[in-house]
Amino acid sequence: MKHIFYFLFLILFVTCTIDNEYDYFNQHDCDTIGISYVNSNLDKSIQAIINSKCLSCHSELNMAQGSFVVLETYEQLTNSSYDLYDLLVGPNASMPKVGSPQLTDCEKLKIDNWINNQYPYDEMGR
Ligand code: HEC
Repeated sequence: MKHIFYFLFLILFVTCTIDNEYDYFNQHDCDTIGISYVNSNLDKSIQAIINSKCLSCHSELNMAQGSFVVLETYEQLTNSSYDLYDLLVGPNASMPKVGSPQLTDCEKLKIDNWINNQYPYDEMGR
């Protein structure tokens, strides 16, 4: 029985001390573990963020918004010709364009985590 408490304490200790390099974001209540492009849990899905915050300008249909970049697929999103970190997360992030709904701190943290993990496609890490 005693061992269980040690074990629980260890888990608590470890989860409380795992730190993120971007302390300036409010990380409370933001689950950034296991983020992938497609995910059965929409809270862990990058595609869900793109659908809600980017496709209004970056779909084939909506390109008339002035962007000539389509972001409907994984391949299009992870195209190495642009730096997603700089565009979406870094201090000079410029997307989504001013005037449209912005990414929340938590969404930025999820994207950051996804980039750091080499853009996993799905929950199996492909
Ligand atoms: C309100 C319209 C709008 C929204 C919403 C928007 N963008 Fe853009 N995006 C543009 C326009 C317009 C450009 C063309 C460059 C420019 O005008 O800055 C662009 C350019 C880009 C580029 C190409 C940058 C380059 O260096 O070539 C990428 C990648 C991009 N956006 C990603 C995103 C992502 C990811 C989101 C969602 C988080 C997003 N955008 C949301 C309008 C938008």
